[in-house]
Amino acid sequence: MSGVNPEPSRPRRCLVTGGAGFIGSHLVDHLLARGDEVVVVDNLSTGRRSNLPAEGPSLRVVVAEASEAVRSFADAERFDQVYHLAAAVGVKRIIERPIESIETNIQEASAVLHYAVSCVPMPAVVIASSSEVYGKGTKSPFSEDDDCLYGPTTAVRWSYACTKAIDEYLALAHHARSGLPVVVARFFNTVGPRQVGEYGMVLPNFVEAVLRGRHPEVFGDGAQTRCFCDVRDVVPVLPRLLESGACHGRVFNIGSDAPISIADLARLVARTLNSDLEPVMIPYDRVYAPGFEDLRQRRPDLRRIRGAVGFEPRIELARTIRDLARTRGWSASD
Ligand SMILES: NC(=O)c1ccc[n+]([C@@H]2O[C@H](COP(=O)([O-])OP(=O)(O)OC[C@H]3O[C@@H](n4cnc5c(N)ncnc54)[C@H](O)[C@@H]3O)[C@@H](O)[C@H]2O)c1
Repeated sequence: MSGVNPEPSRPRRCLVTGGAGFIGSHLVDHLLARGDEVVVVDNLSTGRRSNLPAEGPSLRVVVAEASEAVRSFADAERFDQVYHLAAAVGVKRIIERPIESIETNIQEASAVLHYAVSCVPMPAVVIASSSEVYGKGTKSPFSEDDDCLYGPTTAVRWSYACTKAIDEYLALAHHARSGLPVVVARFFNTVGPRQVGEYGMVLPNFVEAVLRGRHPEVFGDGAQTRCFCDVRDVVPVLPRLLESGACHGRVFNIGSDAPISIADLARLVARTLNSDLEPVMIPYDRVYAPGFEDLRQRRPDLRRIRGAVGFEPRIELARTIRDLARTRGWSASD
């Protein structure tokens, strides 16, 4: 075993794949603010260069596939921490482009993990997973060791869950075989400034609709519940998980455990943005293919992450909505 990177006295060197994306760019802000040196690798498929600050001594941006970039790093680049966030994200995108999404999510994670175990010493690694891995189980809340329950392979919706589950298996297997200090971060719905609606994310779509004077469109009956956590609560916990050796080789739910129905979320968006636009319900069959399966609820059990690093989401949803709307030109006087 090549050993685990000790905490360096010099600035930490961090690699963030998918760093121009929504969560990635907030993580980059956080790492730079604490004095780390950051290399971002992003193919800009859904990420935006404008999400990141200008390059300088502490930030380098490589526009490339994550797998190609890590192969090219070879011996030249060494990192203390690697955050693998690059993925094809969002149910809409997965349904529209299943082959590309499945291959991206498995092959890129595999390449990043192989790169990490080839380094001496090995960096500590976060692998971004998703609450989707729980599938359509009906238990509430979901705990990390609960069973995962998927539909048939003919329902392409479940392919995203399966790719993230494979990434988790790979990460845990590298930990078992090589001692890779890896943490699996199972994100629940994460929201905030810079999130875009075009790949099917619900909150930016509601904000966009209300700002344009349109009724927010709720898929299904709107009674399904989710828990939304501000990205600025989520990102600081990722380095803390890596810097606690007891967290390595483990899976952590990360998110809020306060549920809200999607119809109420639409109403909260309207109210927060001083609008009286009511949501309209759209049957799933009109949005996705007939037979689309959604989940009535999805809530994380946060006991493990609270016990490990004291995680507690603090930012209220109304503030997230206001901040997201401000990035689209809204001001409180509107
Ligand atoms: N936002 C959420 O609510 C949520 C929930 C669960 C899991 N996640 C996971 O968190 C991670 C980040 O998601 P996000 O919401 O920031 O989405 P995002 O689409 O904004 O970020 C993904 C980033 O990865 C980049 N990317 C995609 N394929 C790449 C490749 N092959 N090589 C390099 N870069 C590539 C994209 O350009 C984008 O910048 C993903 O792994 C996602 O599965 C997010």
